Amino acid sequence: MSYFDDKQPLVADIFSRYPSTPQGKRSALMPLLREVQNAHGHVSDPHMAEIAALIGSTATEVRSVMSFYSTYSTVPTGKYHLQVCSTLMCSLAGADELWDELVEQLDVQPGELSPDKLFSVQKVECLGSCGTAPVVQLNDSGYYENVTRRKCHELIALMKGGITPRLDNPVPVTVNASGLQVTAAGETVGAGIGSLHQVGGSS
Ligand code: FES
Repeated sequence: MSYFDDKQPLVADIFSRYPSTPQGKRSALMPLLREVQNAHGHVSDPHMAEIAALIGSTATEVRSVMSFYSTYSTVPTGKYHLQVCSTLMCSLAGADELWDELVEQLDVQPGELSPDKLFSVQKVECLGSCGTAPVVQLNDSGYYENVTRRKCHELIALMKGGITPRLDNPVPVTVNASGLQVTAAGETVGAGIGSLHQVGGSS
């Protein structure tokens, strides 16, 4: 069974956010990718083909859009997907040495899972937190900042012990199951997805 076979209400909801034109259908690409990425930790070739068929595109085009965003992965990721910023400020602050340390300690290379299947690693471009370099992003959850060698060891030790260390800078705003934006502190902010529907419907 394909991933979206038993999720037709979800697919209909996603498509309802866009105009019912061929271009509008193709606009649903990102939320469909996000759905699979969240569920499986990566988007495989069969998933790309399925999404392409849904939006009237090709798997090649889906892959090419994915390749633009480091947030999507075509290979399985671990429970702890560590993304090390490798842009200039982080590099000057020791990110290259940090990366070497990380791949050696975890015995993992990009595109692989660590032997204990817990970790995967990836180099990414500037995470927009240059003042706290070097920066490591955990999954889509937030940042560990000023990551020294010692701090790296401590973070990894906790994760190997099944504890997710507290993030220095959690993703500030996420969208909850009700479509409302909430801060890391749990406070509701801004407009919900329902409001976006109303804006789209009135134009
Ligand atoms: S260079 Fe690493 S966060 Fe900007």
